[in-house]
Amino acid sequence: MTAAAASGRPPLLRVEGLCTGFPSRAGMLHAVDGVDFSLDRGEILGLVGESGSGKSVTGFSILGLVDPPGRILGGRVLLDGVDLAALDEPARRAIRGKRIAMIFQDPMMTLNPVLRIDTQMIEAVTAHEATGTAQARERARAALVQVGIAAPDERLLAYPHQLSGGMRQRVAIAIALVNRPDVIIADEPTTALDVTIQGQILHEMQALVRESGTALVWITHDLSVVAGLADRVCVMYAGRIVESGPVDAVLDAPRHPYTRGLIDSVPAMNPRGRPLAQIPGNAPSPVDLPPGCTFRARCSRAIERCGDMPPLEAPADEGGGGGDGTRARTVRCWNPVPLPAQGSR
Ligand SMILES: Nc1ncnc2c1ncn2[C@@H]1O[C@H](COP(=O)(O)OP(=O)(O)OP(=O)(O)O)[C@@H](O)[C@H]1O
Ligand SMILES: [Mg+2]
Repeated sequence: MTAAAASGRPPLLRVEGLCTGFPSRAGMLHAVDGVDFSLDRGEILGLVGESGSGKSVTGFSILGLVDPPGRILGGRVLLDGVDLAALDEPARRAIRGKRIAMIFQDPMMTLNPVLRIDTQMIEAVTAHEATGTAQARERARAALVQVGIAAPDERLLAYPHQLSGGMRQRVAIAIALVNRPDVIIADEPTTALDVTIQGQILHEMQALVRESGTALVWITHDLSVVAGLADRVCVMYAGRIVESGPVDAVLDAPRHPYTRGLIDSVPAMNPRGRPLAQIPGNAPSPVDLPPGCTFRARCSRAIERCGDMPPLEAPADEGGGGGDGTRARTVRCWNPVPLPAQGSR
């Protein structure tokens, strides 16, 4: 049971049965198809899955930023127990950037190329608070220091094009932090950076979450990033979560055949010299999802029952039942990978 659940408080962020679709000529494209998870203060959740699995659309849906004609088809997003869909647009706008902030893979989604960094950061503060310019500037400076920017006074006077890629991403992260949000949704913000800068940013973000109690959703296709950064992980496949749980449990002993396949195809997570495995075939089209388990055509463990959609629940040999309300591992599979024998992990 989570700390919030034990105290009777709702979790900070709860996503329930979220479905988001984009109408297309071939029919509705089900980008996100029944996603559930919750997140408490100070927690880091890794959302992983291959390209097109619905990670970014999940992030945009939480913020109410789905590109029309795309729309949320069902489910709820609750912040501190309040359904965001029940709020009017001004109330939602007040939450975006203030209580929930998003960091994008491309920092120029956040930064305006023709404005100085100080102008943009001060504006990010004053958009949400009646704060004087000097005070907002001080907050901006402090946020730059928080993300490890040396010489923050100089950087405040720069334009985005005068900064390196890594520095721009740090500034974009600082803009997300400047209003001390409760939740940050980071959509692959370090994917385009070299590994040393990526390592520094991951280290700083983790420290920051621990200090401030901010909750962080880190979207990535890179399992090794999740291994080092997150507390819990949700693995997405074709718009659905197929496995979730504490990072160590899921990565050490995955139960969903898709998670197993993902781990086996990551070079850094395999014993040296062992040939890398690959998952045969391709993900199904989100316009024409097959009934039942969407992974079954690629799955070596598929059985007849997989023609019915399995629920996301704790495997029977790990206690069974339970939904997302507990932090135990859950898996959407009728024939999960067996647990390794004791002592062989
Ligand atoms: N604006 C849009 N209009 C139409 N379809 C979209 C739109 N945005 C996303 N999709 C579709 O929704 C599905 C999920 O996309 P999403 O961007 O969430 O994937 P992702 O997991 O973030 O992938 P990546 O790792 O490549 O970023 C894909 O099939 C994608 O083509
Ligand atoms: Mg994406």
